[in-house]
Amino acid sequence: MNYNEAFDKLNDLGQTHVLDGFNGLSADKQAELLEQIDRTDFSVLRLCSGDASVVPKGEVTPIKAMQLDEIKSEGDRFEEIGLNVITDSKVAAVLLAGGMGTRLGSDDPKGMYNIGITKDVFIFQRLIENLMDVTNKTGNWVYLFVMTSDKNHDVTVKFFNEHNFFGYNGDYVKFFKQEMAPACDYSGKVYMEEPYRIATSPNGNGGWFSSMISAGIADIVEREGIEWLNVFAVDNVLQRICDPCFIGAVVDGGFTSGAKVVRKAAPDEKVGVMCLEDGRPSIVEYYELTPELMQAKDEKGDPAYNFGVILNYLFNTKELLGVVRENMPLHRVEKKIPYISAAGEYVKPQEPNGYKFETLILDMIHLFPDCLPYEVVREHEFAPIKNKTGIDSVESARKLCELNGIVL
Ligand code: UTP
Repeated sequence: MNYNEAFDKLNDLGQTHVLDGFNGLSADKQAELLEQIDRTDFSVLRLCSGDASVVPKGEVTPIKAMQLDEIKSEGDRFEEIGLNVITDSKVAAVLLAGGMGTRLGSDDPKGMYNIGITKDVFIFQRLIENLMDVTNKTGNWVYLFVMTSDKNHDVTVKFFNEHNFFGYNGDYVKFFKQEMAPACDYSGKVYMEEPYRIATSPNGNGGWFSSMISAGIADIVEREGIEWLNVFAVDNVLQRICDPCFIGAVVDGGFTSGAKVVRKAAPDEKVGVMCLEDGRPSIVEYYELTPELMQAKDEKGDPAYNFGVILNYLFNTKELLGVVRENMPLHRVEKKIPYISAAGEYVKPQEPNGYKFETLILDMIHLFPDCLPYEVVREHEFAPIKNKTGIDSVESARKLCELNGIVL
């Protein structure tokens, strides 16, 4: 793309400020900027006008979760089914590690955060240790696919290599990058993160399977006959990965997807809860939960919308191929976006200053014909690290690790 073509593309979108510093750039940087303008999909910016935070929901009704008592009584049988799936190499794990972790405030990828007290314990290390609980039991390696982004790919790959994959077999760990989307101010003008580069951010955790396809990782899935993908977030240091009992329950019930859930701590807890939406599985976000839904009761008299998702899903790969062809809703999210000001200064904002655009894995559930919400004990399986202090922080996760006998 040459300058005039770039100008025309930007002019149509009201974004010509991107070229304001063009003449002051070296030839290499000019070429880099023109190439970025050419490949950037600016269509996401359409969400800047109007109230894009409200996505209309269909009719919400309760979904039946498999609760702890049932899991306890059927546990041995589920475990055996799940162990067979793992031993037959029919399941792989997908670690979503492309996020920016802005709330934690570290410039490194979240997985590199050291939560150790008496020794080094990196978040990535904790996850590998959890996965190895299962691989040590079955005696075979499970593929681990790690999603990164342009922002953290190289440093993540280097970190795993430097630490010898924390004892895992590196041949079974494959990295792939997710796509990026432009970030803009509240009026819809894209920010510049360098004089020669438009500010971009990872496009959310919803595109993980299409990124796996683009990166050729889905070919491994097909070649190896992998039938299930267990997808999970980087920030839960108690995450059970490829949990045989969970896999067994999903397979035994003939489901095409499953979601680990925890019982809500309080009716107004800020967590997305599982439900049916127009008869299909779905997740209703805490801000979408009306007082009626919050107070609704099931036949036992318990809250009818009581099971929150913890970003640990099991998906059937055949079904995923159909799902990936569907359009996922795009969300506009307010974030702190570092940028180069008109005066040429680098600004790292302390408060949100604009929008990023993301698709979300929780929307994927609605594209599946069915889903098993599978209850787990919060204290044993849910220790997310989102913030520096307070709720869902390094502090709270450390306490939960100690409670579970993990030496930090
Ligand atoms: P979060 O929603 O907590 O986002 O991600 P985040 O980017 O990590 O953190 P904040 O909001 O900036 O503080 C939940 C999971 O989804 C992954 C994250 O790495 C985490 O495992 N994720 C999120 C991606 O892989 N890509 C994305 O674009 C966004």
